[in-house]
Amino acid sequence: MSVVTPIATAIATRWAVCPQPWFPGTILAKLSNVYGCGYGHIMHLGNCYNFYDFRALARRRLPGPIFNYIDGAADDEATLRQNTASFERCDLVPNILRGVETIDMSVTVMGQKLAMPVYCSPTALQRLFHHQGERAVAAAAAKFGTMFGVSSLGTVSLEELRKAYDTPQVYQFYFHKDRALNRAMMQRAKDAGVNVMALTVDSITGGNRERDLRTGFSIPFQLTFGGMLQFAIKPIWAINYLTHERFALPQLDEHVDMSGGAMSIGRYFTEMLDPTMNWTDVAEMVRAWNGQFCLKGVMSVADAKRAVDIGCTGIILSNHGGRQLDGSRAAFDQLAEIVDAVGDRIDVMMDGGVRRGTHVLKALSLGAKAVGVGRYYLFPLAAAGQAGVERALNLMRTEIERDMKLMGCSSLRELSRANLRFR
Ligand SMILES: Cc1cc2nc3c(=O)[nH]c(=O)nc-3n(C[C@H](O)[C@H](O)[C@H](O)COP(=O)(O)O)c2cc1C
Repeated sequence: MSVVTPIATAIATRWAVCPQPWFPGTILAKLSNVYGCGYGHIMHLGNCYNFYDFRALARRRLPGPIFNYIDGAADDEATLRQNTASFERCDLVPNILRGVETIDMSVTVMGQKLAMPVYCSPTALQRLFHHQGERAVAAAAAKFGTMFGVSSLGTVSLEELRKAYDTPQVYQFYFHKDRALNRAMMQRAKDAGVNVMALTVDSITGGNRERDLRTGFSIPFQLTFGGMLQFAIKPIWAINYLTHERFALPQLDEHVDMSGGAMSIGRYFTEMLDPTMNWTDVAEMVRAWNGQFCLKGVMSVADAKRAVDIGCTGIILSNHGGRQLDGSRAAFDQLAEIVDAVGDRIDVMMDGGVRRGTHVLKALSLGAKAVGVGRYYLFPLAAAGQAGVERALNLMRTEIERDMKLMGCSSLRELSRANLRFR
């Protein structure tokens, strides 16, 4: 492929008016698999109105292996599909003539007051998606008064984020075989002033993500030839990546030698994380942390009860966005059971498949205290950095506000199961 082709493709697709099949940009865009919109608009941030628009724009901007790392999930991706489909199996029942004018959508969860009931779940490798990475997400979360998670596999240090952005911060933790390392990492988070500790418990081994196997996506990169070609046709991503701060995993770098490819993320999971982690280990962590502590990835009632017993202050129902155990139940489907069992003793949150304000209202009607989003902010991040995440959070806030008015409630406390009917 000549050097001119990817540049010409990039220019042409940027100005492609999608529905005209004869338009040269459209043809080129289709050829390079970056065709994005179907409404006669030039695809840009200003005409992204929902998750699917952001996803289309991110797809145009990211090299295929990175897009597929975000978009993909485990095995047949059945759980990924179920996560969103589960919200469509029940309907909202609105009330009318309630005189709703002002809306209060604030919630308090795990001791943190949030201006909206949606927070940004912790996700790995964000500077790979956009050079602003976690800084963009933290800044947007702060602007909208909500909480954001920093992954153990984050690309900006939890200390920098804690200092720079004044909004509740979650630190997502993996449990290592080396107990001293666990203690050191927790102490580090405590010293930094992290508000909430979240131990991910659904990842004692990596999920089978076949899209990544096909493209060769891993850290460090081990791309297949096809994967390399996908990078070659996204030169703008490559220029941005190469002209900004070097890729790093600062949560781990201090403790694990990740330099020069000495340790891949795959090996980090298999060699350093502890698959024997059990309730006694976690109880000790909860005591040592001595603050807001939640388990991310709880799905059964029995586990939710044990989380209460060992002193957790929250649980996040999650199947990791379908990226771990395919065939696992959607968190939304499991929510009522768990709220009934422990909702009066612990803060119950959920994530997975949330794409709309109505999804949030449905989850809150069943008793969730707040709802996490992953890909909902990751595609906007990839599409446009901080401006993208802000637009996505703003759309979500506007949707929730509108939906609350249409539901006839001025405060989220008014939502209940009386507002829902399952088909
Ligand atoms: C690209 C990507 C990376 C993720 N990285 C992490 C991680 O490092 N730690 C973690 O606990 N969860 C991680 N998750 C899971 C999210 O925290 C969240 O559970 C999930 O994205 C929710 O599903 P949704 O994307 O449909 O909103 C990741 C998800 C995605 C899509």
